[in-house]
Amino acid sequence: MTPATGPATTDAPATPTASARAIADAATIVRWCDTLAAVSQDDGRTTRVYLSPEHARVNAMVAEWMQDAGLRTWQDAAGNLHGIVDAATPDAPVLLLGSHLDTVVDAGRYDGVVGVLMAIRTAARLAASGPLPFALQVIAFSDEEGTRFGKALLGSSAVAGVWDDAWWDLEDGDGTTLRQAFTDFGLDPARVGEAALPPERLVGYLEAHIEQGPSLEQAGQALGVVTSIASARRFSVEAVGEARHAGGTPYERRHDALLAAAEAALAVERICRAEQHVGTVGTMSVEPGAVNVVPGLARFSVDLRGEFDEGRDRVWESITAAFDEIGARRGVTVSPTEVHRAPAVFCAPALMDAVRAGIAATGEVAPVELFSRAGHDAMSLGLVTDVAMLFLRNPDGISHHPDEFVSEDDVALGLDALAVAVERIADDRAETR
Ligand code: GLV
Ligand code: MN
Ligand code: MN
Repeated sequence: MTPATGPATTDAPATPTASARAIADAATIVRWCDTLAAVSQDDGRTTRVYLSPEHARVNAMVAEWMQDAGLRTWQDAAGNLHGIVDAATPDAPVLLLGSHLDTVVDAGRYDGVVGVLMAIRTAARLAASGPLPFALQVIAFSDEEGTRFGKALLGSSAVAGVWDDAWWDLEDGDGTTLRQAFTDFGLDPARVGEAALPPERLVGYLEAHIEQGPSLEQAGQALGVVTSIASARRFSVEAVGEARHAGGTPYERRHDALLAAAEAALAVERICRAEQHVGTVGTMSVEPGAVNVVPGLARFSVDLRGEFDEGRDRVWESITAAFDEIGARRGVTVSPTEVHRAPAVFCAPALMDAVRAGIAATGEVAPVELFSRAGHDAMSLGLVTDVAMLFLRNPDGISHHPDEFVSEDDVALGLDALAVAVERIADDRAETR
C-alpha cells in the first residue's frame, strides 16, 4: 500500500526524527494522558480500578475521542472499550491495536493509557491514508493491572475467550465479588463470553507501551522491540498464628503471624535473587491489629515473575518449601492461594519484523530488543493470535509511580513506528496473496 503520512520506509533519516503528523498527534496524546490522570477514585493521586465509576467515566471520554477520530465504538461484555476502522468488506480480517485504561494505586499517567491513545491516533492516521486489507480495531482494555481483584488481565482474558468461571468469586478489598461488581457496573455476568473475538478473524495484536524499566534509556534509544513477556504468578497468602497478650506472653509461647509473614517475605527475596527471578510482597495486613496484641493473622501477596514458566514454577516450589519451614518453626500455618497465572508469551517473528521496520523508519538503525518483565494485555491475546509490542523509553525506568514519564518526542517517534509497522503487516499480507 501507499505509505501513510508518516516517514518513508526507505531513506530513513540519520537521527530519529518524527513526522509533522506524529508531532501533532503526540501533543494531543500527552494532553489526553493528563486529562485521564485526573479521573481517579482517590483525591490527589491516580487510582482507577476495574468496574469502578471512574472506569465508566474514562470509557465514555475515550469513546468520544475515538468517535472524533472516525472510529465506530462500543463497550463489550467485560467493560472493554472498542473502536474500529472498518475494512471494505464486512468479513475482512482484523488487526488489533491497544492497551489498558485501568491503573495501579497512586499510578503514573502513561502505563497503558499512552498505548491506547497511540492506537487511536494510528488508526485515524492510517484510515486517512487509504484502504487497508484488514479492519483496524483499537481496544482499551478494562483490567490489566488486577488492582481490584488480584487477578490481572481480566479484560483481555475475556477478549481472548479464556475467561475462567472460578474468577466470579474473587473478592475486592471490601468483600465485593467480581460477579457483583459486573452487575453493579451494568454488565451481565452470563454474557461475558460475548466479549471473545473469533481468533480465525484476527491478523494479530500490536501494543505500544512504556518500557517500565531502564534498558532503552541506558541504550540511548527512544524505541525498542519486545521479544517476549515474562511468565507470572500471583498469590494471596494467609499466615495463621495465635493472638495473645503482648506483655504476658513469653517468646516461647508465641505464634506470631506477622513475624512469620515477615520472614516469608525475606525468603521470597532471597530465593528470587539467587534464581534470577523477581518476587515482590506488595501488600501485608495483620489482625487483630492492636499495639498490645501479638498478631494472630497476617495476610500478604506474592507476585512472582521469570522469563520461562518452568523456572518460575521451580522457584515457587522453593518459596513454598521455605514458607513451610518458617511456619513449622514458628507454629504458624502459612497457606498460599493462587490468584493469577499467566504463561510467558513470545512475540511473533513476522510482527516483530514489522515493529523493527517501524523503528528503522524513524532512523534508528539497530533497535534494542528486550524481554518484558512487566505484564501486558498482549499476554492474553498471545494465547489466541500473534502479538508484538513496541516499547517507548521510560526515563529512570520508573513506573507504577506518579513520576512515571515518557517524552512527547518519544511518543511522536513511537507513532511513526507504529504506523509503519501496521503498513508493513498490510504489505506482507498483500505479498502472500
Ligand atoms: C502490570 O503492569 C504488571 O506487570 O503487573
Ligand atoms: Mn501496563
Ligand atoms: Mn502497570
